[in-house]
Amino acid sequence: MTLINDTSLQAMVDTATAVFREHFEHDPAVLAIAPGRVNLIGEHTDYNDGFVFPMAIERQAVLVASVNNSGRCRLVAADLDNEMASFTIEGIAPSKGHWSTYIKGVVAQFLDNGHPVPGFDAVLTSNVPLGGGLSSSAAIEVCTATMIEQFLGIQIDPKRKALWCQKAEHDYAGVPCGIMDQFISALGEKDHALLIDCRSQDTEQFPLDDPNIEVLITNSNFKHSLDGGEYAERRSQCEAAAKVLGVKFLRDATMDQLVAARDQMDDVTFRRARHVISENDRTQRAADALRRANYAEFGRLMVESHHSLRDDFEVSVPEIDTLVELACEVDGVYGSRITGGGFGGCTVTLVKTEAAQTVIDHVMAGYRDKHGVEATCFTTHAGPGARGTHLG
Ligand code: GLA
Repeated sequence: MTLINDTSLQAMVDTATAVFREHFEHDPAVLAIAPGRVNLIGEHTDYNDGFVFPMAIERQAVLVASVNNSGRCRLVAADLDNEMASFTIEGIAPSKGHWSTYIKGVVAQFLDNGHPVPGFDAVLTSNVPLGGGLSSSAAIEVCTATMIEQFLGIQIDPKRKALWCQKAEHDYAGVPCGIMDQFISALGEKDHALLIDCRSQDTEQFPLDDPNIEVLITNSNFKHSLDGGEYAERRSQCEAAAKVLGVKFLRDATMDQLVAARDQMDDVTFRRARHVISENDRTQRAADALRRANYAEFGRLMVESHHSLRDDFEVSVPEIDTLVELACEVDGVYGSRITGGGFGGCTVTLVKTEAAQTVIDHVMAGYRDKHGVEATCFTTHAGPGARGTHLG
């Protein structure tokens, strides 16, 4: 496997290396790379023990680093005017809201699991849009874990590594996320989408390399943050619904059960559960549609997913609804939906390759007219998951 698979990634590595040399006056010894993700379908199902269907994108976090054996970590964020942060391995504590907290959180997981982490110097850069629903934070976490594996000369089972990174997100960033983002960043494969059963943690790679289709990501540039409480609130509403239904997780409930219990819960709780139960079903049907290369069916399920997230789960915003509506107006679009945690961020659109540019032009112009804001669009193939190496 080639570690660096495109020129923009090479440029990121070159920049990070130059910044490293400038700050630490020698060459970095280790390189780690971990991608962001786009979720094709299966939203807000992971923490309900359900199914998700993401793919890794060709956007990633990159760390170049060296052990310094001082018990101290010195970090530089190349994208933030080389802002520096440092902490000691002993007495490590969260710095919520600060980028260094993701790195600290992962170091803490290695320590808690009996792997002494030496002090290190590192430069971080990333081209996963921040707060865009593309897992910029999971990319940093999994990249950090991959860097530490290189330092220690060990390889942690990728699922275990992803779970440590999820714990870092819970404990150090304060977001009670599911397992999707860290799993796909650690386990992604080039030209494949990954179906994850979040209960058994079984995964299945689905080829996604048909040159006739493109996955288009459109950023509303309406920033979202999942530590504002709405994500956690959705999660507890799902737990409340499961309790009323007498099941451990909504994964275990059927639509018939939910309908029968309608008068035992308020309307909001009912709609939250209806989203999760229907989304689990859609996700499995979408995986089946992809297996049969039935993109029309896949696209229909994406649009249904969006409507359910907008009306029942209420995690969309008008800007995102506009992007989805505009995309669906163009011939050659199979489907479009909000992707990620919600409350802003990005949409994902499945489109015939020949129509991709028309969609981009149409969506950007329509969005500008309606909201006075520029959307950002890019197509992406399914990229590889996390990887690391020694340099030189
Ligand atoms: C965020 C979380 C994921 C998942 C999605 C919604 O990205 O990190 O675990 O819950 O939201 O599907």
